[in-house]
Amino acid sequence: MTAVEDQAACLRQRTQGRVSMQNSIRATRCIAVASGKGGVGKTVVSIGVSMGLAAAGKKVLVLDADLGLANVDIQLGVEPRMTIQDVIQGGQSLADVVLPVRENLDLLASSSGAAEMADMGSARRGMFVDELLAFAAGYDYLIIDVAAGIDQSVTAFLQSTPEVIAVVANEPTSIMDVYSMIKTVTRSGNGPDIGIVVNMVRTLDEGERLYAKLSAIVYRFLGRRYPCLGVVPYDPVVGDAIRARKPVMEYAPATGPSICLKEIADGLIRSGRTGQLTQTDLSRFFAGFAGRLGGEGTGP
Ligand SMILES: Nc1ncnc2c1ncn2[C@@H]1O[C@H](COP(=O)(O)OP(=O)(O)OP(=O)(O)O)[C@@H](O)[C@H]1O
Ligand SMILES: [Mg+2]
Repeated sequence: MTAVEDQAACLRQRTQGRVSMQNSIRATRCIAVASGKGGVGKTVVSIGVSMGLAAAGKKVLVLDADLGLANVDIQLGVEPRMTIQDVIQGGQSLADVVLPVRENLDLLASSSGAAEMADMGSARRGMFVDELLAFAAGYDYLIIDVAAGIDQSVTAFLQSTPEVIAVVANEPTSIMDVYSMIKTVTRSGNGPDIGIVVNMVRTLDEGERLYAKLSAIVYRFLGRRYPCLGVVPYDPVVGDAIRARKPVMEYAPATGPSICLKEIADGLIRSGRTGQLTQTDLSRFFAGFAGRLGGEGTGP
């Protein structure tokens, strides 16, 4: 089939109101950023990696999936008029809600304290997931900033997400929490492809030692080895950037955190993992959301 015939076939499918799910999702690489413990830099890493991918010419959609303390928009310095709650509750389409924030970088923002998600019925949720999948197919990467914690709403999703970036900082609680997160999401046997990012260390050496320590614990108790995707140094400039409501890569591009975050993004591109976003993944995820917020369904 020629490219033109291919396009025509695709258009026909669209006009028939149905884009084949297999075809529509094949190209989108879905990566969730998680940590177990809160406050270790998930949002900084989500945004940094997304900015780095976008700078390399990849089309990136960031989903703020932290319904409790949504703040990707704040760190990106944008003020979304609408959020995914308007899609779920208000009948808006994702195309109405998505916010272009930079070249190649779009955001699906969330509202903090989104208790109304609890009312989402399964039919509405199914429609939302369908819409999200079709929508994400227009991007090379879907980066999902996941809430802290390892309750079922978080881990059910992580278990079925193709790739997970696990962020760890040099605190005993962070190491144990990220270990618990990895243990939980790999329990079923077929866990996601996990990569570790060490954040907020004073030296590269400290970062390498922290990775070695976590890696040894994971290997000893779970018998698995996961690669280190990168080490991001502690630098007060990250806090300054957040206060200035700018991504650190724009606020201070020549500093350690910016350079390391870009390297992590470039490494992801080089690694060429081909995670696939599937219907089940997101259905489980949103089932988990509703369960967490006291609504129906707590995932499989
Ligand atoms: N590399 C770094 N250097 C200095 N400070 C950092 C670095 N990374 C993150 N921080 C600081 O840590 C704080 C938490 O970062 P961030 O919001 O990304 O964490 P989080 O894991 O997303 O938190 P939450 O669990 O609340 O969503 C930020 O206020 C930021 O100032
Ligand atoms: Mg966060």
